Amino acid sequence: KEGVSAEPTSRYDGGDHPRFSFEKARVRKNTSEKILISDALNKNQFMKRMDHHQIQDMVECMYERIYLQGEFIIRQGEPGSQIFVLADGKAEVFQENKLLTSIPVWTTFGELAILYNCTRTASVKAITGVRTWTLDREVFQNIMRKTAQSKHEEYLSFLKSVPLLKELPEHKLMKIADCLELEFYEMDDYIIREGEEGSTFFIISKGKVKVTQSTEGYKEPQYIKFLEKGDYFGEKALISDDVRSANILAYGDRVECLVMDRETFNKTVGTYEELMKCLEGYVANLTLDDERRHAKSPVN
Ligand code: CMP
Repeated sequence: KEGVSAEPTSRYDGGDHPRFSFEKARVRKNTSEKILISDALNKNQFMKRMDHHQIQDMVECMYERIYLQGEFIIRQGEPGSQIFVLADGKAEVFQENKLLTSIPVWTTFGELAILYNCTRTASVKAITGVRTWTLDREVFQNIMRKTAQSKHEEYLSFLKSVPLLKELPEHKLMKIADCLELEFYEMDDYIIREGEEGSTFFIISKGKVKVTQSTEGYKEPQYIKFLEKGDYFGEKALISDDVRSANILAYGDRVECLVMDRETFNKTVGTYEELMKCLEGYVANLTLDDERRHAKSPVN
């Protein structure tokens, strides 16, 4: 049961796992308790990087578990199989029998062994009778898997809309979808700098970016155009060693891009030569376009 880290399950694994039934795992609770549980999860420094839907699913699937006065909820050194939120009563954290702290009500605990696949870093003891909301590790992992799966599907449909890639066979697109990374940028962050070497390819999944380029007679790079969700840039880096031909800056407070480097692309999709073959038509068009625009193509 133990020995499965939370990390690998965050990747879609091709659907070999039986579908997890959230309906069965869901436990009825009233709205005010749901808010308290969700706040407790969100304020935990290790859990708060999870997205809103993951926290919601966790809240839905937590079940009530009571511990008697003097009982150990967690024992240091043991493998962990649950995450808890303290709902009522007094619980204390010990390390090697030394009292570390008392856990405030509506706090998450027992998350470390689950998130980092380590043994319990401390013991937690019920000092009075204690009521907890508890989440089983398998359910937690299924929530991670479900998110990974829906991300995978979302990424796949994105890829199919990218002219550069849409001719690739489905199984290759699926591999790409699985190794895309999501990156975030703030207003005016440089995503790409003109003249720099680069081997990463970007697809905008949220927000807008501004393309600028050095222009004769101007000191500052000049505005070329905006690119938006679904647009992509840096694609030539997948097929050539050219330096970047334009700047790409985030335009807006939270720009999200799906990113992949050439090495990953080659590893997952195939060799450079195979890729070149696949993209021959595309590259030919691109070159034609470039010629037509007199090398005005803003991005590579
Ligand atoms: P985990 O290691 O899974 O099990 C024991 C839990 O005790 C741990 O996760 C944390 O939630 C909690 N814990 C560990 N160390 C401390 C600490 N110094 N202060 C508060 N809580 C702690």
